[in-house]
Amino acid sequence: MDLSQYKAKGKIDNKHLLTLKDYSVGDIYEVLARAVKLKDMNRRGKKQNYLKGKTVALIFAKSSTRTRVSFEQGVRQLGGTPLFLSSNDIQLGRGETIHDTVKVLERYGIDAIMIRTFKQSDLEELKEYGSIPIINGLTDDFHPCQVLADLQTVYERFGRLEGIKFAYFGDGNNMANSLMLGGAKVGMKVYICSPKGFEPKKEIVEEAARFGEVVVTSSVEEAAKDTDVLYTDVFFSMGQEKDKKKEDALMPYQVNASVMDMAKSDAAFMHCLPAHRGEEVTADVIDSPRSIIFEQAENRLHAQKAVMSLLIK
Ligand code: CP
Ligand code: NVA
Repeated sequence: MDLSQYKAKGKIDNKHLLTLKDYSVGDIYEVLARAVKLKDMNRRGKKQNYLKGKTVALIFAKSSTRTRVSFEQGVRQLGGTPLFLSSNDIQLGRGETIHDTVKVLERYGIDAIMIRTFKQSDLEELKEYGSIPIINGLTDDFHPCQVLADLQTVYERFGRLEGIKFAYFGDGNNMANSLMLGGAKVGMKVYICSPKGFEPKKEIVEEAARFGEVVVTSSVEEAAKDTDVLYTDVFFSMGQEKDKKKEDALMPYQVNASVMDMAKSDAAFMHCLPAHRGEEVTADVIDSPRSIIFEQAENRLHAQKAVMSLLIK
């Protein structure tokens, strides 16, 4: 499917965004088409009122710069009201159940919940007990909002998604999982290059491979050779203890100049951020003209506004 030819329907077959497992290629294209449109409207200073009169609760049990600010600004730009709730400050952080939390928020007229937390099962519970849309702002297993923004960024950079060779280097974490699912669904050839013992979970690899080409390899050369995109993420995700053994295992998977040299001459470097220069990526790569990290970060705003505008009625 070509995004520029895609005829938007203005709706998707999902009430929530928990993981891209639940999103068809049509749903993903619908979000991307809306994101491109909203970005253009922003550029032209056009008003967007998709969330007029709506309040979106933003619950954070982990730190954030991009997700917090892009959701807060996104809700405001769509005419709604964001309500930031740190789980340290609400009773959820002191053991109140998900069930009681969502029931109470609904009574106060909250129209949707974006949540960043640890367990994916907490989102399943919110969805089960509540009746409002739930959006995953990162769990230990998935980060779908980041990947929707990443797909928009790849599309803008290359003018297509289908057939792009996309190589992720490093820990088989939440980013690797969501990139495999989203990437395979839109027709990219997704390579996950991780050291032995740090590959993504087998069931998620198998799930993603049902939709497209997914290769898990420990060979940097195999992944980097003639690739269009090189992507990496931190060695230690939020909630993980630093560990010398893991650092030593991941160091050979660092994206540096010699890895970039194996890729296509117009290859792009991507990173969800925050980055640690000198660990998963060298400063010369992330700060080079081939790096499109700030386009990615910007697109969080547009892609998430697209998601909210499609999910929140
Ligand atoms: N990429 C991302 O989710 O960044 P934050 O942790 O700053 O939200
Ligand atoms: N894998 C990282 C992504 C941060 C956006 C983490 O979970 O901390």
